[in-house]
Amino acid sequence: MNTLNWSELSFGYIPTDYNIRCVYKDGKWGEIEATTDTTISLHIAATSLHYGQEAFEGLKAFMGKDGKIRIFRPEENAKRLQNTCDGIMMPKLPVELFMEAVKKAVVMNKRFVPPYGSGASLYIRPLLVGTSAQVGVKPADEYLFVIFVTPVGPYFKGGFQTTPVVILRQYDRAAPLGTGTYKVGGNYAAGMLAGEKAHQMGYSAVLYLDAKEKKYVDECGPANFFGIKNNTYVTPESTSILPSITNKSLMQLAKDMGMTVERRRISEEELATFEEAGQCGTAAVISPISKIDDIDENKSYIISKDGQPGPISRKLYEKLRAIQYGDDSDIYGWNAVI
Ligand code: PLP
Ligand code: COI
Repeated sequence: MNTLNWSELSFGYIPTDYNIRCVYKDGKWGEIEATTDTTISLHIAATSLHYGQEAFEGLKAFMGKDGKIRIFRPEENAKRLQNTCDGIMMPKLPVELFMEAVKKAVVMNKRFVPPYGSGASLYIRPLLVGTSAQVGVKPADEYLFVIFVTPVGPYFKGGFQTTPVVILRQYDRAAPLGTGTYKVGGNYAAGMLAGEKAHQMGYSAVLYLDAKEKKYVDECGPANFFGIKNNTYVTPESTSILPSITNKSLMQLAKDMGMTVERRRISEEELATFEEAGQCGTAAVISPISKIDDIDENKSYIISKDGQPGPISRKLYEKLRAIQYGDDSDIYGWNAVI
């Protein structure tokens, strides 16, 4: 513990003291419990293992200058998890139970919340899995909800600096009416091969186009996409992307900064018109994009000519971070303070 170098953390798993659990059985949720056991024992026919009846969430806690810990918009994650539950036939976890479990996970691992000024945060990973046996493709009767936490640094090496992304036309992440709007593990398994290819070629992520027409921008592997031009923040409308809480927050902050906000389809050609673009998400925060290569079509969209993040992306990033760390006032009540 004393050996943790907070400002050098990457986005990886570091063991912490406790994880939180809650079991769904006989049609109801049980008590919230804390454990030091980092393993779970699963039936070999558990639906999560065979049929991907599994969902997760991702959110962060931040240590403020005032010594208070702020968890960013946890109710939004609770609601998104409920939406995912509806999508893959899992029992909905009550929002209050989610909130209590998240707070408990943070409080019980308080010594792992990175100090103010380190630039790091405590990543909170809720997970819900079908645990009981089925052989036919049917929902489980029993479920396990787990939350573990781990201190993290930036998702993309170097933090707030530009990286290139790539369009790989041979791969889709999610079907237009599939599970793209849900945070299910299968979406990430579906993106691993393309993601790995992108990394091998020196890109930080894949930028997926819509799977049906391959004409419109969907999102990046682990984050939403946004573009900026003419004082307008533009982000895709799509039935196959995850509704990002970071993106929703940035849309509000952009409006507050006097920008126009547009949520609509973005054609690939429009990429050529953006003055700035970025990936946004809990892990990614804002990760500005330097260029977008469509390698199969031999096209390249240069977003940042000098390789530096643009001024609006920087302003949005700094504003979001200031709210999360408690440096700026939280006028929308986004933080759960503990
Ligand atoms: N899109 C995908 C596919 C993601 O995995 C994430 C991460 O959670 C996001 C977008 C960003 O969502 P949020 O800002 O809620 O973390
Ligand atoms: C997050 O940003 O919280 C995510 O879940 C992205 C994940 C792929 C690390």
